[in-house]
Amino acid sequence: MQQNRKSKHRFDKGAKNKDDAKKPGNELSELWPGQSVELLKSLHILTRDGKLNQDSRRKLKQVQHLVQAIKPHLEGLKSVADLGAGKSYLGFILYDLWLRERPETRLYAVEQRKELIESCKLVASRSGFDRISFAPFSILEATQAKDLPETIDAVTALHACDTATDEAIAFALKKDAKFIALVPCCQAEVARLLQDEKSRESRPIETLWRHGIHRREFGSHLTNVIRSLFLESRGYKVRVTELIGWEHSMKNELILAEKVQRGNKQAKAQLEVLLQQIPLPMRLFDLAPPEDVIN
Ligand SMILES: C[S@@+](CC[C@H](N)C(=O)[O-])C[C@H]1O[C@@H](n2cnc3c(N)ncnc32)[C@H](O)[C@@H]1O
Repeated sequence: MQQNRKSKHRFDKGAKNKDDAKKPGNELSELWPGQSVELLKSLHILTRDGKLNQDSRRKLKQVQHLVQAIKPHLEGLKSVADLGAGKSYLGFILYDLWLRERPETRLYAVEQRKELIESCKLVASRSGFDRISFAPFSILEATQAKDLPETIDAVTALHACDTATDEAIAFALKKDAKFIALVPCCQAEVARLLQDEKSRESRPIETLWRHGIHRREFGSHLTNVIRSLFLESRGYKVRVTELIGWEHSMKNELILAEKVQRGNKQAKAQLEVLLQQIPLPMRLFDLAPPEDVIN
């Protein structure tokens, strides 16, 4: 990887090569070649003396894997929005490992907690990252906000809580995103809707969600099935996979969607059949722009 000569972190890189990365007890071994130690300290992923605690290690691994998974899809794209950015671990690490060498690309981090936005701005300015903008909005507000471009090439949402992932999908559709990467978080909406569905009539299929724990798990599974099918119906080619080993995170489903066509009637029909069997008035359907507005 080429290094940016202007960067303040040019000389504080992590593991230099694979052999370095294998050394036991070496904290730098957790970092990827070229990764900035100083940045990770600013983000409090590494402690001041360069150590990683358990939680930070987990987060670092998730973000590294996500960056690895999305990098090939971002090639040539000019704008990326990370939604529900939190402390912007993903945005900063993506910048460090990828955007740094791509001066034509800008990243927008959307986060509704203003205190996080302020601390992220500090980290960005200390790191010399001048192509990240921080938007102190909810994802819904960001969809309308004038500070953000009308179209955005790629959208990411890592662990955006509950229906915030659906807001991210709606944002991506509105902004005509070419690529979307979602790692959904806890999901409560569909479990609630299944509870209502259950009380209406009794059908064999309802044994799938009769018990509370099944309702939560099945609800979460069904949500991501519907999200994926919905994206397919809107013309995306969807791949659903694991982000990382389950020992690192329970919220581990990675949905990658690449726009390949205007729409997909077959996927739309499949979604309709599914929703006939299990009617779920999910917020996603209200949030998403109508089909004829797309493109
Ligand atoms: C579980 S954290 C994940 C943060 C970050 N993406 C990460 O993985 O480190 C979820 C973040 O999304 C933000 N959030 C939740 N709902 C949101 C919404 N509707 N609009 C904007 N931000 C939201 C929360 O404030 C929180 O910072």
